[in-house]
Order: sequence, then structure tokens, then C-alpha cells
Amino acid sequence: MKTALITGASGGIGKELALIFAKNGHIPVIVARNIDKLDQLSAEIEEKFKISALALKFDLSQPGAAQKLFDELKERKIQIDFLVNNAGFGDFGKFSIEKMDKYTNMINLNITTLTELTTLFADDMKKRGFGKIMNVASTASFQPLPYFSVYSATKAYVLSLTEALYFEFKGSGVSFSALCPGPTNTNFSRAADMEKTPLFDEKGDGGMAAKEVAEIGYEGMMKGKMTIVTGFKNKINAYFSGKMPNRKIIPSMMAKNFEKNIGE
Ligand SMILES: NC(=O)c1ccc[n+]([C@@H]2O[C@H](COP(=O)([O-])OP(=O)(O)OC[C@H]3O[C@@H](n4cnc5c(N)ncnc54)[C@H](OP(=O)(O)O)[C@@H]3O)[C@@H](O)[C@H]2O)c1
Repeated sequence: MKTALITGASGGIGKELALIFAKNGHIPVIVARNIDKLDQLSAEIEEKFKISALALKFDLSQPGAAQKLFDELKERKIQIDFLVNNAGFGDFGKFSIEKMDKYTNMINLNITTLTELTTLFADDMKKRGFGKIMNVASTASFQPLPYFSVYSATKAYVLSLTEALYFEFKGSGVSFSALCPGPTNTNFSRAADMEKTPLFDEKGDGGMAAKEVAEIGYEGMMKGKMTIVTGFKNKINAYFSGKMPNRKIIPSMMAKNFEKNIGE
């Protein structure tokens, strides 16, 4: 039995991922702010799969949260085999000084905590020679998006970091995957105040089902796929964003070049 740490598992894609990990016989450690929802999910996992998930309440936008979470798991002697950095939020609208605190929180959650958790757990995994890390990016990662500027920039960071580490950790037993969903029917669009935009309202269905996105993500992560774009239309979007063909060739070449200069 392996253990999967999933951030942002109180709803949406993270919740579906927790259910899939449990269904596949892994123990989910589920983290978010809403402990009631996490406890409900734990109960559901116990009932359906006879697996005890651990629910932990953390506000991951707070400085130091990643280290606290890491230390708490160490104290409980829990070893993490799979890490899914899924917690994140966006904000739609004009770039504005009134939103400065929101941008800071978003960067703390989407970038800083994700990077810190990745650093802490990747190091552990590398020592053991096994681990899988999936960072949830977005189709917003592939191009700058006006009126969604800070969010798309955070997700460009997530994609770039993850793809770089994919090459850097090759041969270490630790794989890195970036999950890039397009519009998905979760609380995300409400939280980002963009439910009525064409992105989410196009077919009146609010986007792809979270379960489907999670299934695609899980499968890709288990295969150690570098970049996982959900759905045909989103793949086309990613391709035409002009970066797809070069995304593998150039970093792969650079990894080989740089490796000559890197000691152990
Ligand atoms: N839905 C989409 O269209 C879409 C598209 C591309 C990428 N994504 C990405 O997919 C990921 C999951 O989003 P989702 O669509 O499933 O949205 P969601 O339903 O809003 O879920 C977001 C999750 O993150 C948690 N979270 C938010 N702020 C947090 C904080 N400060 N500390 C800890 N946990 C926090 C939320 O739990 P609490 O509120 O309980 O803390 C919730 O569990 C995000 O990274 C998002 O950027 C979503």
C-alpha cells in the first residue's frame, strides 16, 4: 500500500483524485481548509474502499505551511509516495491595485507552497529511489491571458517548473507530471468569478467533469507522462499556443548539455 498526499482535496479535481487513489488501493492524505468536507470525504473513502484516509486542515496560502505539513507527516511517521499539488485558485477581471492581497495569496498558494512541497518531498523520494509528483497546471499555462493575468502566470510557472524537473530527475526513480486541464466543472469558476465567461458557459455544462479530468491525470501520472492535457480541444489549444513541439526537444537537449557541468 502506498500513500498519496493530495492538496486541495475538499472538492473538485482533488476530491476525485483522492477517490481514485483510494480505489487503486492507496492511502490518501487529504489537505484543504474545509475540514468538514475533508472529513466527509474520509468517511466516503472508508465506506467505499475500506481505506482510512487522513484529513488535515491547512491554509496552504500561509507562509511556512508547506514545512508545517511536511513536519506533521514526519511526526506521524507517514511516508509519501505520491504527491499531487492540486490546491489552487484564480481570479478573473482587470489587473487592479485593489486585488493586491489576493494576488499575493494566489502566488503563495499556486507557486510558493507548491514549490516548497515539491522540494521537500522530491528530496525524500530521491533518497528512496521512488516517487511520483503531479503538479496541477492548466491550459492557461500555455499562453498569457489578459484579465486572467496573475493566474495564467502562476500556471505558466507550474508547467515550466514541472517540465524542467521531469528531465532533471530522469533516472532517479522520481517522475514529474504537469496536469493541464481546460475548463472543468468545479467550484473553480465560481471562486474565480468567471462562470459567465465563454470558457465555462460555452455549452452550458461548466466544462469537463472533474472525475474525467482526475482519471486522465491519474493515468498519466502513473505512466510518468511529462505533460498531461485533458481533452482533444485542449490539446489543440496547447499545440497551437506555439510551444508544444519545442517543449520536449529543447529541454531534453539542454538537460543533456547541462548534465556535463553538474556534479552529484
Ligand atoms: N476547474 C477548472 O476549470 C480548472 C482548469 C485548469 C486548472 N485548474 C486547477 O485545478 C486545481 C483544482 O481546482 P478545482 O477546479 O478542483 O477547483 P475547486 O473545486 O475550487 O478546488 C480547489 C481546491 O483547493 C483548495 N484550496 C483553495 N485554497 C486553499 C488554501 N489556501 N489552502 C488549502 N487548500 C486550498 C480548496 O479547498 P478549501 O476551500 O477547503 O481550502 C479546494 O479543495 C487548481 O490548481 C486549479 O487552478 C482548474
